[in-house]
Amino acid sequence: MTWSYLRKNISSFSLVLVLCISAGIGFTGSFDLSINWASAQTGGHVPGSFSGNQSDSEFWRAIKGGVNGRVSIPDKQAGQLVQADGDNWRLVKNGALSIFGGVLIFAVVLILALFYLIRGKIEVESGMSGNTIERFNGLERVTHWLTASSFIALAFTGLNILYGKFIIMPIFGSEIFSTVTSYGKLVHNYIGFAFILGIVMMFILWFRHNIPNRADLSCLAVGGGMFSKGVHPPAKRFNAGQKLIFWAVILGGASLSVSGLALIFPFEMPIWAGTFNLMNMVGLSLPTNLTALQETQLSVLWHSFSAMVMIAIIIGHIYIGSVGMEGAIEAVGSGQVDINWAREHHNLWLDEVENKKI
Ligand code: HEM
Repeated sequence: MTWSYLRKNISSFSLVLVLCISAGIGFTGSFDLSINWASAQTGGHVPGSFSGNQSDSEFWRAIKGGVNGRVSIPDKQAGQLVQADGDNWRLVKNGALSIFGGVLIFAVVLILALFYLIRGKIEVESGMSGNTIERFNGLERVTHWLTASSFIALAFTGLNILYGKFIIMPIFGSEIFSTVTSYGKLVHNYIGFAFILGIVMMFILWFRHNIPNRADLSCLAVGGGMFSKGVHPPAKRFNAGQKLIFWAVILGGASLSVSGLALIFPFEMPIWAGTFNLMNMVGLSLPTNLTALQETQLSVLWHSFSAMVMIAIIIGHIYIGSVGMEGAIEAVGSGQVDINWAREHHNLWLDEVENKKI
């Protein structure tokens, strides 16, 4: 069903993607596919013998330690050749952050596999009636798949940036890894704009259906009815669990979008000095005089952290929207869901739609 829907709508879908990529090119300047490969020094020689009465090793040790020299150009930061804080930043990124992300994703996959083994697929208990009702219209479905496909492309290319050197490089070698990563980074930068558009459209289309209400509390109290058969808490168009997913996507998407844009435009969009200023108003004492490099380092950490949390949430969403629940995928495929599915999962919404028809 999903595939035939996708085939039918492939032209409008591609058009939106092309428009987003063009917007990305417009924003970032050019679509430059030429890649300048970094060339390593050969022979192990470093430049030396120009440090007066200091030995070369002392000279380079001081530079590596982050010493500030003097420059006559307006950008005084150019006087620091090596930012020593970068070593700590790299330790956090390649250490704690990467381990956190890996463990989180592995844990989510494991929990879902166990859940599937114990609970199995959540079926339509009254059986499929064969009669359907429209759940999502064309615009809603295009919006869902624009956001979903761009997120998945961003997730894979982003995970490669973080973990590729530990997984792809040892298996396929550094040449394949560097080619995959160079093109993957371009994909990541441009597809980001399609994702931002998807998030904005989702917010506009579904915001009013995701305002929390009293029914959400009783839905949460019985775990959304996911853990036992015969439990179907009343729900409007979206139940409590879906509202949590919606807000995670909107807030997580906004966080990823802003930090991602700050990484594409490091000089035009410093976000951390202002954020820390605000946080200092509630008693913290965070640094507010940050260089562009420090801003970028913080954005990388935040962007990667938000991405890991969001990937973990979306794996859960993909599970429940596909293999985990009978009759759900049709909602974003053909747009039509079985009446019995709607009655079991969204009875208040079904009543509303049927009352409107009368
Ligand atoms: C292959 C991947 C995916 C599948 C199979 C899938 C499946 C579904 C299904 C079946 C629904 C409708 C549920 C209903 O009728 O109540 C839905 C809704 C939704 N999807 Fe996806 N989805 C996927 C990827 C994504 C991604 C990557 C995002 C966002 C980054 C996303 C965000 C949403 C949101 C916000 C909703 C509405 C709230 C909800 O139902 O949870 N989806 N999806």
